[in-house]
Amino acid sequence: MRILSGLQPSGRLHIGNYFGMMEGALKLQHEGEAYYFIADYHSLTSIHDGAMLRTHVRDLAVDFLACGLDPEKCVFFRQSDVPEVVELSWILSTVTPMGLLERCHSYKDKIARGIASSHALFSYPVLMAADILLYDSDLVPVGRDQKQHVEVTRDIAVKVNESFGAGLLKVPVPRIRDETAVVPGLDGQKMSKSYNNTIQIFEEPAALKKKIMGIPTDSTPVEAPKPTEGSTILALYKLVASSADYETMEADFEKGGVGYGDFKKRLLSALTAYFGPLHERRAEILADPGYVDRVLAEGAEKARLVARKTLARVRTAVGLSH
Ligand code: ADP
Ligand code: TRP
Repeated sequence: MRILSGLQPSGRLHIGNYFGMMEGALKLQHEGEAYYFIADYHSLTSIHDGAMLRTHVRDLAVDFLACGLDPEKCVFFRQSDVPEVVELSWILSTVTPMGLLERCHSYKDKIARGIASSHALFSYPVLMAADILLYDSDLVPVGRDQKQHVEVTRDIAVKVNESFGAGLLKVPVPRIRDETAVVPGLDGQKMSKSYNNTIQIFEEPAALKKKIMGIPTDSTPVEAPKPTEGSTILALYKLVASSADYETMEADFEKGGVGYGDFKKRLLSALTAYFGPLHERRAEILADPGYVDRVLAEGAEKARLVARKTLARVRTAVGLSH
């Protein structure tokens, strides 16, 4: 079974990304042949600053490896190291009805958030389809927001197969992690870098402390019971504490007698304990300056072998080559 997913290099990873998407993808690397990549062509739809894009690509590669991506188990590469994907994207776009793209929520949402409209932003799902179809992927683990794009990919694959030959492209299946509720940010809204409310996975200790101690709380006095419903502290604690510790905190909320400052300290130490080993791994990775480049170069080579085969098959079927 081939598993494939990509993440845009658009800023440092936060714990919403971790529990919403990465944790699941990392588990899957032990269940099949996983291909994970850094979607830098896609990020060009929103970042027009070469130095910034390069920094984001590097940060994402380091963070992904520190989170447990194992380059011995999966193929980890940068999308633009396999430019074959752009050629496939063009071929796919010739069978993609305009209406299919016009229905995509993500395009409309991005325009509504003030991202400049461009042809690439509109055809973003076709490039994503090319990513998935180029590697003959069976399973695509993504967050809920990307489900529609995988459905578009399936529609495009079916159309290609109808036009150019049954079985030419493999029709993939999305894997959505419905069990992970939306991770709340510091202000209680969905955690997102667009809302400036994130806790990064690799937050510096002093910055982490400042963020946690600054989580807004109500003015319930120390001795009174505290509302558990909608508590950001409890929701975040649940993700990183043992179930026994979580139950203790919940009971302390309900009993009263413990102040929010204490709860925040418990949350801070649980977060530090949970992500501590990842911070250590990140420091090890950074201590070997060539490591990330070596991993990405090896990944690109492996990915390219598969990509070339698929593209050759498609070029022949559509009449571009013999
Ligand atoms: P952001 O909202 O910070 O821009 P992205 O859109 O880049 O994050 O998200 C990358 C992945 O992480 C997606 O698959 C998305 O579903 C997941 N994700 C992002 N934020 C959260 C969250 N708060 N809770 C759960 N999953 C999330
Ligand atoms: N569009 C995805 C996102 O914004 C990233 C992505 C690009 C992707 N190509 C992909 C995800 C192929 C899965 C498969 O999160």
